[in-house]
Formats: sequence, structure tokens, C-alpha cells
Amino acid sequence: MNLKIAVLSGDGIGPEVILQAKKALNAIAIIYDHEFVFEDAFIGAIAIEKTGNPLPEQTLNLCLNTDAVLFGTIGDAIYDNNSNSKLNPIYGLLKLRQALGLYANIRPIKPYKDLLDLSPIKRKIIEDTDFVIFREISGGSYFCEKKINDQGTVASDLCEYTEEEIIRIAHLAFRAAQKRRNKLTLVDKASILETSRLWRKTVTQIAKEYPEVTLEFLLVDNAAMQIIINPKQFDVILTENLFGDILSDEASVITGALGLLPSASLGNSSVLFEPIHGSFPEARRKNIANPIASVLASAMLLEHFGLHQESQKVYEAVHKAIELNVVTADLNPYSKFGTNEVGDFISNYILSKDDLYFK
Ligand code: IPM
Ligand code: MN
Repeated sequence: MNLKIAVLSGDGIGPEVILQAKKALNAIAIIYDHEFVFEDAFIGAIAIEKTGNPLPEQTLNLCLNTDAVLFGTIGDAIYDNNSNSKLNPIYGLLKLRQALGLYANIRPIKPYKDLLDLSPIKRKIIEDTDFVIFREISGGSYFCEKKINDQGTVASDLCEYTEEEIIRIAHLAFRAAQKRRNKLTLVDKASILETSRLWRKTVTQIAKEYPEVTLEFLLVDNAAMQIIINPKQFDVILTENLFGDILSDEASVITGALGLLPSASLGNSSVLFEPIHGSFPEARRKNIANPIASVLASAMLLEHFGLHQESQKVYEAVHKAIELNVVTADLNPYSKFGTNEVGDFISNYILSKDDLYFK
């Protein structure tokens, strides 16, 4: 298969971890005879430095004319909370999501057997947890009208959803549930919010097309608690933008380290894959950042294009690295391995025809 992949490494540890993802993809291309062509572009703080714009036109054009986007991390403390969108790296990502029409952010939560004790939550609670969050990312309070009065004393963020926005992600979530354990939990605040009531009504309607899937409703405050006390109950969680942002960071605690989790963002014709962690500027160029989330983002990319075996090979390589303790210090404080060494192990494992070598 030929794939053109736009690589937006971004800021902080982004370039280092994305390099490891590229190494894994290159190894896959060699072993399975594919051609992956990477094209790099700036986004975030580095793009502000180079062009004065967190999402330069050239970057956007590249992303609009590619098969997939591999995204690193953005953000730099010097720009934090800047409401001038030209000088805030985060707007680079928000504008990119909008311009590419990305509306579903998918975050799988499944702890590794060998790392269960890394989580602050008890082993018996998190063991065998396996769910996926479908977070709407094109609407809600992130993108609706924002206001502040002239005195700077009253502010508002409108939260609006249309039926269409709910319908398209709901179908994706139901289809995912069908392939998994046939359960979908809609998380909202329907006791208070009109938007949540629209979500419930619309999703209930769509559920009729998926009779084998059990639909449950959960208020977001309760969901925040259930994710910690009984995460095994979940299969697919569907929720709006802000609730999904908060709950997915919370859920990452189950896996013990933020540096392990990838995510995929899907639109009508664009797809983007990224680690869920941030840019961690303090760790930049120190060869200590965990590359696994980015490597797994590339596994999600492969799966998206139907390259199932290839994707499984990447997961297998990551499992092997964890099993043999070839991991960064966030997973093992005594580790002597850095970002590059973990990335090398993974790509070498993929390249190796004789898996016994690693046993
Ligand atoms: C995420 C991030 C983003 C979000 C930020 C960087 C805009 O926290 O992808 O979860 O809030 O969506
Ligand atoms: Mn977030």
C-alpha cells in the first residue's frame, strides 16, 4: 500500500517521540512491502516562531492533501493561556481539527498486564479493563461563541450541538460497540443541560438501528466516579467535547502512565493520529520521553487503513518492550533506556524475522 503521511511533530518532546513512530512505520514498510512517504510541517509554538502562525497555510494544505496526519505534541509555557489565537500554539491544533473536519476522537483505555501496579488504582479494580472513549471534538463549548465584556468581568462560552453533529459520531460509536462487547454508555448532564437532552434523544433514536447494542446513560459526575471505582463495566463511552476531554485524562490513570496512550481523530475525509500526552517541554531533547504512545498512534493509523497484521505487529513489539523492561524511566525508574533505545528496540523487533532472538 502507498500512503502519504503528513508529520506534524510540533513542540517539546513531539519531534523525539514522533521519530520513533516513523522508525516503526519504516520497519513495517520494509517487512510488509509498503511505501510510506512522510512530509514534515510545522505546527504550534515552533510554527509561531517560524511563521507567526500556529497553523501555517502550508501545513494546512499539506494536511488537506495527504492520506493521514501523524501529530506529535504542541505547547510551550511562554505562550500559555494566550487568548490571542495567533500567539497560542493550542489554536494550531484546534484550527487543524476544524479545518480537517475531524469530529470523533477515539481513545482506547486498556492497561498492560505487566504494568498494573503502576496505576495508583488497585490492581483488582483495573485488571481486565478494556474500553474506548468516543469524544466529539468539533463542537460544544470549544468552538461556539466566546464573549467577555469590555470591563473583563463577565465571560461566557456558548455550548451548542446540532443533531447532525451527534448523529455522525453516534454511528461510529455504535459500530465500534458492535465489534466489541455491544455496550454503549452515553455520558452527559441531561439533568441540567439542554444540549445533553438533545444528545440523549438523538442517540436513543439511532440505537434502534443497532438492536444488539445495549445503550446506557450516565451523568458525567457519576461517570467520573465510576471510571475510578468500576472501570470494567465500560465498553464504549460516547460523550461531548469538554466532558470527553476531562474523562479521557482521568481514564488514563487506569493505565498508569500518560505516555502509553494513543488516540485517533476521524473526519469525513481526514484522519489524524497522535499521542494523548502533552509537549512536556522540560524533557525536551533529554532522551527521556516515553515514545510508546506515539508508536501506538502509528499502530492505530495502520489499523485504520485495514493493515491489521501490520498494526498487530506494532502492538506485539510494544508488548515485548514492556515485557522485557525496555522502557523509559516513567515506567521503570531504574531503566537505562531512553526514547531512542525504546524506539530502536521496537523497530528492530519489527524488522527481525527471527523473533526468538528477543526471547
Ligand atoms: C486534548 C488536549 C486538547 C483538547 C488541547 C491541547 C486543545 O487537551 O487533545 O485532549 O483540549 O482537546
Ligand atoms: Mn485533553
